[in-house]
Amino acid sequence: MIEKIEKEAKKYFVGSDGCHDWSHVERVRKLALMIGKKEKADLFVLEIASLLHDIKRKEEIDSKGSFCHATEGEKEGRMILDKYNISDKQKKNICHCIRTHRFRNNDQPKTIEAKVLFDADKLDSIGAVGLGRAFLFAGSVGSCKMYTNKEKEIAKLDKDMTFKEGDSAILEYEVKLKKIKNMMMTKAGKEIAKDRHNYMVEFIKRFWLEVKGKK
Ligand SMILES: [Fe+2]
Ligand SMILES: [Fe+2]
Repeated sequence: MIEKIEKEAKKYFVGSDGCHDWSHVERVRKLALMIGKKEKADLFVLEIASLLHDIKRKEEIDSKGSFCHATEGEKEGRMILDKYNISDKQKKNICHCIRTHRFRNNDQPKTIEAKVLFDADKLDSIGAVGLGRAFLFAGSVGSCKMYTNKEKEIAKLDKDMTFKEGDSAILEYEVKLKKIKNMMMTKAGKEIAKDRHNYMVEFIKRFWLEVKGKK
């Protein structure tokens, strides 16, 4: 059944950009299962929720953010799930995971599976992969500068957090990525986040040393 759902989910990612493509789903799935084992979560629920969590992401990006992919993803996901023999309790939980994985507004992840998915999804934005995604994303929105030297200054202003043309991946780190470790909801998630965070701190330190010709 998981293979069939995977096949269905994959179709939604045709033509996705490199930051939000199927490889993100695969990484989230692996991380979620690894964290889920440690947290004694329902791995069946977690695996399916991981596969379906971003099925509406491409459409949201294509529509320039006219709807929330988590809310719409839950609806679409429910239609897929209804075709399979899954208990109502598990179905409800999978839908809850999809809806709350983004955790905007007040809809918080409440079940352990939703908390694990939330952590796995956020963890993919930090560490080596997270920084790689940030540089790829900055390039894709037309940011022609790798850095501006004004990142710390702009981050302190803290006004418009949306990534705009001309922003750099380093700014994304200053504004968002370095705060992610404090958002984790599970013990296992916190441990991985700490490790990935420390790696980013080292990378950024080294980055500026190289920029200054000191390394
Ligand atoms: Fe998402
Ligand atoms: Fe995601």
